[in-house]
Amino acid sequence: MASSSPIFTTFLLLFFLATTISAAKETTASPPTASASPSPTASPAKPSPKTPSTPSTPISSHSPLDPKQIRALQSLDIPTSRDPCSPAHNSTIICDASSPFRHLLSLTLSNCSEDVALSLTALKSLSTLTSFQFINCPISPIRFPSELTSNLHTFTCINSLKKLTSVWLSKLENVTDLTVSDVPVSASGPGIILDSLKKLRSVTLSNTNLTGFLPKHWHPNLTYVDLSGNHLKGRIPSSINVMENLLVLNLSSNSLEGEMPSSIGDLTSLQNLSLSSNTISGSIPDSIAAMPDLVHLDLGSNKLNGTVPKFLADMKKLKYLNLEKNSFHGILPFNASFLARLEVFKLGGNGNLCYNHSTLAVKVKLGIAPCDKHGLPMSPPPAKDTSSDSSSDDYSADDYSDNNKQEHHHGPSKVVLGIAIALSSIVFLIIFLVLLSRCCR
Ligand SMILES: *[C@@H]1O[C@H](CO)[C@@H](O)[C@H](O)[C@H]1NC(C)=O
Ligand SMILES: *[C@@H]1O[C@H](CO)[C@@H](O)[C@H](O)[C@H]1NC(C)=O
Ligand SMILES: *[C@@H]1O[C@H](CO)[C@@H](O)[C@H](O)[C@H]1NC(C)=O
Ligand SMILES: *[C@@H]1O[C@H](CO)[C@@H](O)[C@H](O)[C@H]1NC(C)=O
Ligand SMILES: *[C@@H]1O[C@H](CO)[C@@H](O)[C@H](O)[C@H]1NC(C)=O
Ligand SMILES: *[C@@H]1O[C@H](CO)[C@@H](O)[C@H](O)[C@H]1NC(C)=O
Ligand SMILES: *[C@@H]1O[C@H](CO)[C@@H](O)[C@H](O)[C@H]1NC(C)=O
Ligand SMILES: *[C@@H]1O[C@H](CO)[C@@H](O)[C@H](O)[C@H]1NC(C)=O
Ligand SMILES: *[C@@H]1O[C@H](CO)[C@@H](O)[C@H](O)[C@H]1NC(C)=O
Ligand SMILES: *[C@@H]1O[C@H](CO)[C@@H](O)[C@H](O)[C@H]1NC(C)=O
Repeated sequence: MASSSPIFTTFLLLFFLATTISAAKETTASPPTASASPSPTASPAKPSPKTPSTPSTPISSHSPLDPKQIRALQSLDIPTSRDPCSPAHNSTIICDASSPFRHLLSLTLSNCSEDVALSLTALKSLSTLTSFQFINCPISPIRFPSELTSNLHTFTCINSLKKLTSVWLSKLENVTDLTVSDVPVSASGPGIILDSLKKLRSVTLSNTNLTGFLPKHWHPNLTYVDLSGNHLKGRIPSSINVMENLLVLNLSSNSLEGEMPSSIGDLTSLQNLSLSSNTISGSIPDSIAAMPDLVHLDLGSNKLNGTVPKFLADMKKLKYLNLEKNSFHGILPFNASFLARLEVFKLGGNGNLCYNHSTLAVKVKLGIAPCDKHGLPMSPPPAKDTSSDSSSDDYSADDYSDNNKQEHHHGPSKVVLGIAIALSSIVFLIIFLVLLSRCCR
């Protein structure tokens, strides 16, 4: 009896151990099954929208859409068998609530077929629109009637309308939000468009092969300026500082040159600044330190020189910092706690920049060499990276945080495994102690 009970307890404990381990395996296995389940549920979810759309139809039973506008929509290949104003019509159409007929306020034409044509009659009928979007519509532009251009506040043209001109865009006199991207725009420069559209608040002219220089005059009320991916040349004018409400300035991927004007620091509302992929030279102006809200600073792929300013580490909101592929030199003035705070940090491709191994003893790959005792890069820079692939040496904190996140993703399974191992160790310890106490008694 006395000899059988320890064996029995051992069995019991082994059983307990086996169940905990299998339970642990199940919990580690459950995340993949959980992530796999949305896709089977997603496919039956596709036919289901038919049912939710029926309860939503009573909302649209106000008044019908103006018959003239229905005909205009039909001419643009938009199905009108159902009420176009019904919310089931997936926000490509927004109507007002007037009677006896409702009118269109917003229309998005996307992925239209090539045989759709804009007609002056249709556009005249659509002149109640305040917002008009073209997305992937390779149709030919025509002159918009003045009633329409007078009402439009938002105009978007992405990879649509084949080709636009400054004359055509300048007619949109009351537009506050202008987005034109992936369409060639012919103009002597962005200035002629910006000067004509006096009410602009937000402007994107991106990947439009726009040529010329940046304007000398800017609207103080602009909050968003994206002129990236064009052929703009010359310097950044110091008059840029009048845009005191500017939140985003994106001048990346142009042919801008010269130094950054120190007046850029007057843009005290600025959150995102990108001047990447130009040929901007000189050093980073100290005035940047006076931009309290800066979150995103991208100066990569330019010809900036001088030392990396230490004040960047004191910019409390900075999350994204790209200084890669420039000509900075000297010792990187950052410590590990600053680098840990950044979500993205790129520094590679600055051959004369180095980091102090004793103050920045991190395993983080910075893409630059450690300094020797003279503060110069140690002779063999990370040659394996630069020789194999130039794009792989430009990641650092970026890689670091990604790795962190990955570890986090694998975290739960590791935790569970750890618990299982700890539990089994405890169980074995108990068995051992029980056996020990039995035999030594
Ligand atoms: C939105 O509605 C239009 C017209 O009914 C339809 O062609 C299009 O596929 C819908 N788009 C989405 C994303 O549901
Ligand atoms: C347009 O086409 C693209 C790609 O072909 C697709 O991803 C998108 O959902 C389409 N948009 C609409 C509104 O149908
Ligand atoms: C458009 O702007 C002009 C002045 O530029 C103004 O007279 C007109 O009332 C505006 N139209 C609308 C609908 O806001
Ligand atoms: C801009 O010009 C380049 C070279 O001529 C061409 O490949 C590209 O398609 C153009 N972009 C647009 C948006 O037209
Ligand atoms: C800027 O906006 C304010 C108020 O929104 C307006 O009063 C002012 O006239 C605008 N300034 C310009 C130059 O358009
Ligand atoms: C600037 O524009 C480029 C290309 O259009 C884009 O990739 C980048 O994210 C933009 N940056 C900011 C700060 O908006
Ligand atoms: C940085 O570049 C500017 C303009 O190209 C040049 O005048 C200056 O001497 C350079 N400074 C250093 C420290 O290399
Ligand atoms: C501004 O930068 C932040 C941080 O990089 C980014 O998450 C955000 O999308 C950017 N905003 C715009 C409008 O580009
Ligand atoms: C890291 O640098 C920042 C900014 O220079 C400073 O405020 C902070 O105290 C430094 N942290 C450590 C641990 O040295
Ligand atoms: C690196 O930092 C240590 C400790 O702060 C300092 O003693 C050393 O002089 C620095 N090295 C260089 C090259 O500046």
